[in-house]
This record gives sequence, structure tokens and C-alpha cells, in this order.
Amino acid sequence: MTAPLLDLNDGHQLPALGYGTYSITGPDAPGIIGEAIDAGYRLLDSAVRYENEAEVGEAVRNSSVPRDELVVTTKLPGGDHGFDEALRSCEESLKRLGLDRIDLYLIHWPQPPIDRYVETWKAFVRLREEGVVRSIGVSNFLPEHLDRLVDETGVAPAVNQVELHPYLAQTEQRAADASRGTLTESWSPLGRGSDLLERPELQQIADKHGRSVGQVVLRWHTQLGAVPIPKSANPERFRDNLAVFDFELDADDLATIGALDEGRRLGGDPVDEVQL
Ligand SMILES: NC(=O)c1ccc[n+]([C@@H]2O[C@H](COP(=O)([O-])OP(=O)(O)OC[C@H]3O[C@@H](n4cnc5c(N)ncnc54)[C@H](OP(=O)(O)O)[C@@H]3O)[C@@H](O)[C@H]2O)c1
Repeated sequence: MTAPLLDLNDGHQLPALGYGTYSITGPDAPGIIGEAIDAGYRLLDSAVRYENEAEVGEAVRNSSVPRDELVVTTKLPGGDHGFDEALRSCEESLKRLGLDRIDLYLIHWPQPPIDRYVETWKAFVRLREEGVVRSIGVSNFLPEHLDRLVDETGVAPAVNQVELHPYLAQTEQRAADASRGTLTESWSPLGRGSDLLERPELQQIADKHGRSVGQVVLRWHTQLGAVPIPKSANPERFRDNLAVFDFELDADDLATIGALDEGRRLGGDPVDEVQL
């Protein structure tokens, strides 16, 4: 099974569900990521900060899946904000990946206290024009950060990857992204490190559909129109996570899951997160 494709605002497409690679590192990583590609994943999510661009690139290069069917994502780290810095950082990422193109390149955090994300974005626009990057986007950008990009460059991000799970449904952020033509991706879609997958309300919905709780949560993301990128290094679980496009949650299910929203962040806050 592969995920259906969604349209981006730049004419390219994105699989409706992808593979998170945070913490998949070391000698076994290319094999695990390669197995995920074999299982049907076409969107891969890496970052300089995950220290696994080389392993992701190796899996892509070794795969029998044609390069053009894969969407390789990486993210510019906080210490590389700035125009020249971003151009250099991109070159270094390409080298580590061992690829001649990044399919989706994201600014990892806006870092408003540093205030260099607009000039960084100008470099991203240049990189896209040069063709070394296919689609450009951001991560953890609040609506006001998106507005500055659009006001100062006229280019809205293709993607905004934000923390999103039933404890943090991001209703306003998703609406803000959509109104700018920006597709929302969900990080920590399964609520990593929380009790989300043990919630009895979710188990009941899973039992009703004959599915796992993980599948119910991931199906919820896709029905919201967001693109989840669950991470699993376990083949049974990563296969299960992708198999969510052959059932539908009903209005009652969606209301039950919607009631879990507490606006609870499990990760950093875009207002003050700085990762240099
Ligand atoms: N842009 C950002 O700032 C940002 C921040 C955080 C994450 N991310 C990206 O988002 C991806 C996903 O987020 P995440 O890794 O934080 O968390 P997540 O995908 O919500 O959860 C991952 C955890 O859930 C377990 N798991 C996976 N599938 C499962 C299932 N079906 N049932 C039960 N447990 C399951 C995994 O363990 P096993 O591996 O043992 O299965 C792992 O411990 C990351 O890998 C990364 O690519 C981006």
C-alpha cells in the first residue's frame, strides 16, 4: 500500500502520510528505512539535527523504487539561519544525503528571538529557482511568521510541519496554513512520550473498526487534511501505520477524538524555541 498524493501550492505533490526518522540512526538505519520504503512509504522526513541524512540518503540510493517517486525531506538547523548560511547548509545536506536534489526543504524552527527566518526563506526561494530543492516549506511557524514570509517575499510555504496529535489539534494553525495554501504536516502524530495510545476512548473506536489505536489516530490526521509522519523502527508497526486508507472514521469518532484536545504541547514552543 502507498499513500494517495495531495497537491502542493507549487504544482508538486506530497504523499498523504510519511515516515518519520527521528532517532533512527547508526548502522542499522539504512536497512530499516529501506524496509519502510519497500513497505510503501514514499515520503521520508529527516533533518540535520537527527544526524541521519547520510543513512536516509543511502536507503534512497539503494532502493529499487525510482528516485522521482520518493520525497526526501530535510530541515535547516537553527544555527544556519541567514541567506549565505542557508545556501551553504543546503550544500552540506546534499553532500551528506549523497543526492543531487532535496524534494522538500524546511526551516526547522522560526526562532523569532534570532529573527533571521525571512532572509533564510529568501535563500530557500533561490534554491528552489536553481532546482537543487523541489519544494520549500517551514516547520513550527505560527501564523504571524507565515505572514512575514508572504509579505516580504510573496512566496507562501508549500508545507508547514507542526506538532499535531489529538492532545494538540491545532485547529487555528491548520486554518491559518490552509488559508495561505500551505499543507500542514503533523509531527509526533502518535503523541510520542504521552499516554495517548492508551486512551480507552481511542481503543473503543479501534475495536469498532477492527483497527489498531495507532491506525485510528493516523486516520484522524488524514481526515483533517494533515499529513502525519509517524516514526517507527518496528516493521510490524510501520506497516500498520501506513495501512489507514481503507477505512473511514465517522462523525461520532471524530467528535470523540476532537474532545481530547487540551492544547497540550509535548515538544518545544515556536515562540521561544531556539536551537543553535
Ligand atoms: N519538525 C519538528 O520540529 C519535529 C519534531 C519532532 C518530530 N518530528 C518528525 O516527526 C516524526 C514523528 O514524530 P515522533 O518521532 O516525535 O513521534 P511519533 O511518531 O508520534 O511516535 C513515535 C513513537 O511511537 C512508537 N510507535 C510508532 N508506531 C506505533 C504504533 N502503531 N503503536 C504504538 N507505538 C508506535 C515508536 O516506537 P517504535 O519505533 O518502537 O515503533 C516511537 O516510540 C519524527 O520522527 C520526525 O521525523 C519533527
